[in-house]
Amino acid sequence: MMLRTTLLRTLQRSAASAAPAAAAAAAAAAAPRVVPTLGGSRAARGLSSSSSSGLDDATLTRAKALNVDLSGKASADDAVASLLDEIEVLKGSKLLGGVPIRDAEDISHIAFSFMAAKALFAALDISLFTALHRVGGPVEYSDLAAVVNEGVAASEHVDERKLVTLVTALTSVGLLKKEGSTIANVPASEAFLVRGAKYDFGDYLRFQIDKQMYPFMDHVSSVLQGKPSKQRFVDYEEWMGDPEEARLYTESQHAGSHGPARSLARYKGALLNECTTLLDVGGGSGGFSLTLASLFPNLKCTVMDFPNVIEVGREYAEADGMSDRVDFVGGNALETPFPTDKSAVLMSYLSSSVGGDNLEELYTKAYDALEPGGIFVVHDFMVNDERDGPPLAALWALQHMVFTPGAISLTPAAVTGFMQSAGFEDIEFFTMIPGMTQGAIGIKK
Ligand SMILES: C[S@@+](CC[C@H](N)C(=O)[O-])C[C@H]1O[C@@H](n2cnc3c(N)ncnc32)[C@H](O)[C@@H]1O
Repeated sequence: MMLRTTLLRTLQRSAASAAPAAAAAAAAAAAPRVVPTLGGSRAARGLSSSSSSGLDDATLTRAKALNVDLSGKASADDAVASLLDEIEVLKGSKLLGGVPIRDAEDISHIAFSFMAAKALFAALDISLFTALHRVGGPVEYSDLAAVVNEGVAASEHVDERKLVTLVTALTSVGLLKKEGSTIANVPASEAFLVRGAKYDFGDYLRFQIDKQMYPFMDHVSSVLQGKPSKQRFVDYEEWMGDPEEARLYTESQHAGSHGPARSLARYKGALLNECTTLLDVGGGSGGFSLTLASLFPNLKCTVMDFPNVIEVGREYAEADGMSDRVDFVGGNALETPFPTDKSAVLMSYLSSSVGGDNLEELYTKAYDALEPGGIFVVHDFMVNDERDGPPLAALWALQHMVFTPGAISLTPAAVTGFMQSAGFEDIEFFTMIPGMTQGAIGIKK
């Protein structure tokens, strides 16, 4: 968010000195007014004509940092179009990363980004984006408080002047747009932060990120130094042993998992279509299983997670009328035997939630649970093999370390190694959430 300014400034500098295509593309996508567009010449895009793909090494490296696979692109133009697609998704809300910090202001943008995050969470708490959506168009500043307070108990009304301060902060980071004397949602806020919108993940941000993950980050330094930490839970098992925490976590995770589940179905639909039984280990609310079962009519799923978690999952399955297609098993995946003869095993965000030392054993259990020809899908935060990004994957790994001290920041190379040791073959990677998570798929032959 705030770092976008940093990025743009840096990109302007880089564009002036024949920046790599990805950097120019990022700038063109994020700030078309200040940087030459991609419609310009190859030279303006920084494309080298010497490599066989037409892209220079710096561009290829940048593409990798963004988790964009450029292999197989017929031409440099196709490759740049792919990058633009990814950047279109990334821009406006995330740290593109990989741009070296130059000055104190850039450092301040990192240090103060927590204020932008808190502004976003506060806006979600008062349903600001939803209220602006309800009006259906730009709202005059003078009407903002009335719009936000409509239908809200008087004891929770938002003060008009404070609301203007919040709205100004949100506008400054691009979550709202000001036109004349009016304020409106930007398209991303409209798509992702309005309650009930198809891709709404506001509750995930509000509850899991703000209420649970945010306080964890207070403990990074003590965990790093091995000092006694005042944080409440030593690992997932203890954390999910608290019924209230488990419910808060699982309900908000549910809101965040439908999108990735649909992406998995889109990318690997042909393979999943062949599957009849899926074991979803660390499957939480069943967000993946319920989505996949609804998309693949022959698929039955079993979700394994801690007892307080699956209790919430069962409620979702019942509410969706899917209890006969998605069932639940309570237990710690590191200790509980897996049911066998499955055509697919999925571990979404489980590899980052257990110790790195547990992964080979866990993947071997997945292998043993599969019938020959079965597929194993790992979905998780992964940094690239060079360990220089993408930042959101790297930062998530840091955050996981607080409540899972043995967790490692996963790379495709490390995941490949664990999968191969377990016996999987034909391992492939694919981007799931651009700039954040990857999928890996392997086959038991
Ligand atoms: C980020 S959530 C992901 C949930 C689900 N896979 C999804 O993608 O929506 C991580 C889940 O892993 C579960 N988990 C972590 N360690 C586990 C373990 N040792 N055994 C079983 N579940 C575990 C947590 O309880 C939590 O539900």
